[in-house]
Amino acid sequence: MYQLVEEKVRKMLDEKRFIHSKNVVKAAVALANKFDLDIEKIKIAAIAHDCAKNFSDDELLKKANYYGIMVDEIQKRCPFLLHGPVGAYICKYEFEIKDEDIFNAIYYHTTGRKGMSIFESIIYLADFISEDRNFEGVDKIRKEAFENFKKALLLSCNSTLTYVIEKNNLIHPLTIEFRNWIILEGENT
Ligand SMILES: [Fe+2]
Ligand SMILES: [Fe+2]
Repeated sequence: MYQLVEEKVRKMLDEKRFIHSKNVVKAAVALANKFDLDIEKIKIAAIAHDCAKNFSDDELLKKANYYGIMVDEIQKRCPFLLHGPVGAYICKYEFEIKDEDIFNAIYYHTTGRKGMSIFESIIYLADFISEDRNFEGVDKIRKEAFENFKKALLLSCNSTLTYVIEKNNLIHPLTIEFRNWIILEGENT
């Protein structure tokens, strides 16, 4: 199954993005080995997470409409955020992968969300620490990912928010809820 999905994704992405996706698979498998997770499933979610990344803003909005995705104000202004939700639907209906973990992991991989499962969190984090990433602070997140998973999630979320703020972009409320949840969860464990 994984190979089939990889071939489909290869056709949808440019080379750089495809290499990134392959790197996310590697990182996700390394992280998943720490937990008792279905590796084949993790690999499928990882290779497909950016399958909608090559679409233009216009195409993303059209596809969101086609799949009946509720597009909020922020997504309307930043259609790039829709590559997660649209990718999740492509996986479900075009690749015929009817798995809820895979769907949610792809749907929320850009914004994060409150109450993310370990499966979703692994895809979120793997997207951050994949080999091709070289933003400031990535090495610390890479290290924490294997030592303190929750801390690595928080650092990744902080890094996204810092980037968005520096660019004076809008912050999606799901990302704020995600960050608050990580911190509150950390206090209770
Ligand atoms: Fe993405
Ligand atoms: Fe990605």
